[in-house]
Amino acid sequence: MVGAGQLARMTHRAAIDLGVELRVLATDPDEAAVHAGADHLIGTPDEITDLRRLAEGAEVLTFDHEHVPSEIIEQLENEGVTVVPSARSKRLAQDKSYARERLGELGFPLPPFRLVHSSEEVADFGDEYGWPVVAKAPTGGYDGKGVWMVDDERAEPVPAERLAAGLLLEPKLELQRELAVVVARSTTGETRAFPVAETVQREAMCREILVPAPIPEALRQRAEELAISIVEATDSHGVVAVEMFVVDGDLLINELALRPHNSGHFTIEGTETSQFEQHLRAVLGWPLGSTELTAPAVVTVNVVGPSDGSDPRSRLAEAAGVPGAHLHIYGKEARPGRKLGHVTVRGPDLDSARDSALAAVMILEGNRSEEVEDV
Ligand SMILES: Nc1ncnc2c1ncn2[C@@H]1O[C@H](COP(=O)(O)OP(=O)(O)O)[C@@H](O)[C@H]1O
Ligand SMILES: [Mg+2]
Repeated sequence: MVGAGQLARMTHRAAIDLGVELRVLATDPDEAAVHAGADHLIGTPDEITDLRRLAEGAEVLTFDHEHVPSEIIEQLENEGVTVVPSARSKRLAQDKSYARERLGELGFPLPPFRLVHSSEEVADFGDEYGWPVVAKAPTGGYDGKGVWMVDDERAEPVPAERLAAGLLLEPKLELQRELAVVVARSTTGETRAFPVAETVQREAMCREILVPAPIPEALRQRAEELAISIVEATDSHGVVAVEMFVVDGDLLINELALRPHNSGHFTIEGTETSQFEQHLRAVLGWPLGSTELTAPAVVTVNVVGPSDGSDPRSRLAEAAGVPGAHLHIYGKEARPGRKLGHVTVRGPDLDSARDSALAAVMILEGNRSEEVEDV
């Protein structure tokens, strides 16, 4: 697995149970999966020689992030390395404007968008769709880094360096909800979706994951069908997360991740098979595991580094006292605004599971009670 962050760390956990030997590529010995004891190489994800070393003797090469340039993945494929997901499908998660174009060609419902390179084009888009406009760096963004609002291009133009590589523009949509569907597709072609999740973001970063998403059954079914048909139509393999917007009661596809995803962390306790085990099964061409929920409701809340820079681990013992709270701390250095862990609670309904998960997270984050609000 290329990458050694928390996704690799949790995949390592799944690999231990299965007896699968997982080797990760870390850029630095301080990364989360290395701390957890994963077999590792130190190297750079865009250095082909490091990737060759990583893949040596392995049945399959996969990823915990999007940072390997697709030309390099393609080169490895040409050299005979089995890479899952393939360079072609991985690009859907690496380049938001390529993904929009490809999914548009395939007929999937998308927000209006335009790839632009000049300030005039930004101004024209805003005049056409209304201000503010949402601008996204097509590559390299995550957790809202690389996404910002342009209030009025003529009054306050986008810095030229942000336009140089092209910008993906979208109208600022009135989002009723955001959903995520994690789907796994094995190299055998078998496909299974995990239950549809509602994701709740703050400052464009996912904070809460509510499962099953509290939406009408018809919408839930449509979300699942859309996610499965995207994975099939793009011939993607492994675990794929499909982020969607609910606008005017209907679904629009936001973006894809071709790897285990934050919105799927609830599956560790919340479904029969975790997304991490499912990813291993899928990339190895094994039968997929059951995605049945293990409780009527499952809520995951992310633990984010508090503004005072304190480490949530200093409050672990107290958080461990919250009944039903499954604590996951990634062992990363605490920095304000950084995702450091998550808490999952299973319960009879979303409200009670959410209350307990938030209680534990508030303790871990140092009791920031202002974070608790109705969603
Ligand atoms: N067009 C839009 N209108 C309103 N909100 C948006 C729009 N695009 C993105 N957002 C908000 O910003 C968040 C992050 O955007 P996204 O494109 O998913 O980037 P990232 O790669 O950082 O996850 C979304 O989850 C959503 O809350
Ligand atoms: Mg996103």
